[in-house]
Amino acid sequence: MTVDTMSARDHMALAERWAAHDSVPFPVVLSHGEGAWIHDTEGRRYLDFHGGYSATNFGHRHPALVAAAKAQLDRLTLSTRAFHHDHFGPFCQELAELTGTEKVLLSNSGGEAVDTAVKIARKWAYRVKGVPDGAAEVIVAGANFHGRTTTIVSFSTNASHRAGFGPFTPGFKVVPYGDIDALRAAITDNTAAILLESIQGEAGIIVPPKGYLAEVRDLCDDTNTLLVADEVQCGLARAGTTLAMDHEGIKADLYTLGKSLGGGLVPVSAVVGRADVLGVITPGDHGSTFGGNPLACAVGREAVRLLATGEFQERSRELGAYLHSRLNELDGVTEVRGRGLWAGVQLDEERVAGRRVTEALAERGLLCKEARGHLRVAPPLVVTRAEIDLGVSIIADVLS
Ligand SMILES: Cc1ncc(COP(=O)(O)O)c(C=O)c1O
Repeated sequence: MTVDTMSARDHMALAERWAAHDSVPFPVVLSHGEGAWIHDTEGRRYLDFHGGYSATNFGHRHPALVAAAKAQLDRLTLSTRAFHHDHFGPFCQELAELTGTEKVLLSNSGGEAVDTAVKIARKWAYRVKGVPDGAAEVIVAGANFHGRTTTIVSFSTNASHRAGFGPFTPGFKVVPYGDIDALRAAITDNTAAILLESIQGEAGIIVPPKGYLAEVRDLCDDTNTLLVADEVQCGLARAGTTLAMDHEGIKADLYTLGKSLGGGLVPVSAVVGRADVLGVITPGDHGSTFGGNPLACAVGREAVRLLATGEFQERSRELGAYLHSRLNELDGVTEVRGRGLWAGVQLDEERVAGRRVTEALAERGLLCKEARGHLRVAPPLVVTRAEIDLGVSIIADVLS
């Protein structure tokens, strides 16, 4: 079967027949991309305002990342943690330095990093804080999205993410996001950690009230509780700073990172944070065959090098301010949320009722995701001002 001679319809029919129905993909069959552009098998070109859920912050096939991957493919791709390899130590050091943290634990997907952070927080609670064995609690926020493992869906508030997947992992309490009093009321001597997205992504790009994260930090300090920031989506320049928490000038004890840490090329995720907290992990406690593999580390090092220039953070801040101002001008938009090149665009429900907004955008050459009445705009951070103008004009056209 040569994919080049197949039509989009053939590809979609194969997926329908052979793939588990874990998603309802938008009906385009993508074949290649560069920068902020992506092409389908029918020869159409789209401006990418979706950004791979923030996994393609550097754009599609960034030349430096592709070069790093190609060079490493000719050297070594897998060692496992049974052996050292020559990108592992450097990547851990460079990632820790970029994020201002002390230790790094590498894994593959974002969900895996979050699951690992929960394990670390629990073990820290038993070994360091003195919580009775089996009693550790983790407090999370309503409308969270941290991934899809059985433990993570155990504390999801999205019914469809949970239905049919119980029994669930105990030990989690859910409080409303942004409500410091609810958090204060939920905390007990057995609380190991508060786990939050610094900006909630899948919930609709919700920035917490100003000062909230700093209050959470104080509460954690006062109660000897860990603050775990899930920055899998909002981190690594998407929100205009290396870490989204940097906006509040505070530090979490642990961060989870993923998505564009692998440059949009390979899955790379990590828990990074305090040495004394990550120090509860001892040999044999935890592991992953592919976690920290040579290809992942070579690409991850290049991603970190790109971020260390500050260029992507600056682009996200400057072009993000421009994107937000342009989106705010549009008729049919009731609110624009978010930070940096990341916008949750709430649509006037009466105006768009019954309209197939994302289909209409794609027909005009723009790929973007719509969820529960809002558009999620997250172009790769290499997008230009002219491309933002083009994308916004397509959205305006569809909303008019
Ligand atoms: C905040 C956050 N955490 C974790 C995840 C899970 O990452 P992955 O899909 O790589 O498992 C996501 C994915 O969207 C996310 O947005």
